[in-house]
Amino acid sequence: MSPASAAALDVDCPSPPCDPLTAAAVDVQQELATRLAIVAEFRDDETGAHAARVAAISGAIATALGLPESSARLIELAAPLHDLGKVAIADAILLKQGPLSDAERRVMEEHTTTGARMLEGSDMPVLQVARAIALTHHERWDGAGYPNRLDGPRIPLPGRIVAIADVFDALTSDRPYKRAWPVADALAEIRSLRGSHFDPVIVAAFLRLDHRALLRVS
Ligand SMILES: [Fe+2]
Ligand SMILES: [Fe+2]
Repeated sequence: MSPASAAALDVDCPSPPCDPLTAAAVDVQQELATRLAIVAEFRDDETGAHAARVAAISGAIATALGLPESSARLIELAAPLHDLGKVAIADAILLKQGPLSDAERRVMEEHTTTGARMLEGSDMPVLQVARAIALTHHERWDGAGYPNRLDGPRIPLPGRIVAIADVFDALTSDRPYKRAWPVADALAEIRSLRGSHFDPVIVAAFLRLDHRALLRVS
């Protein structure tokens, strides 16, 4: 795999192929991704703690999978933008306490395609990876996810990685509608979903991580 290119992470890449992350480009892309992540979290999690944990967990999974350090770093930088499209969801739906109606749920699901539209067309590898993550982090390995019902390896690798990190952090966090699950219960849930919701190879890599340390990231 070539170092750190978006093409190496099987996401769209313009021609000529994107440059690897050079030292100079890293600073710009990191700053941009960090600021956009603040925007992404601003309306439903002003602390940004969920985004920070999803980033740390996603980067750790990528490393555990044996990806080059620079590719793992790209995924870690891009992961906090997974829900960027939620900035376009009306408060009445985004902040609703209680279950969503079917129509509201369909609007909520549009955060994937909306986020991808916000991020598309960039030459920056970090934004290309972020676009792929925004679009595919709710796809499922068995093809039952959204928005495009992709299955298996047709789901870009960064999207498959962030899917696990996102669900694990959601399960182990307090939300308005539920209490945090114990880590052991959340791990059992992720394990039970390998091969259906999640890529089994990535689940195996995820299960090798130090989960309690990763959840202390904020
Ligand atoms: Fe999402
Ligand atoms: Fe999330």
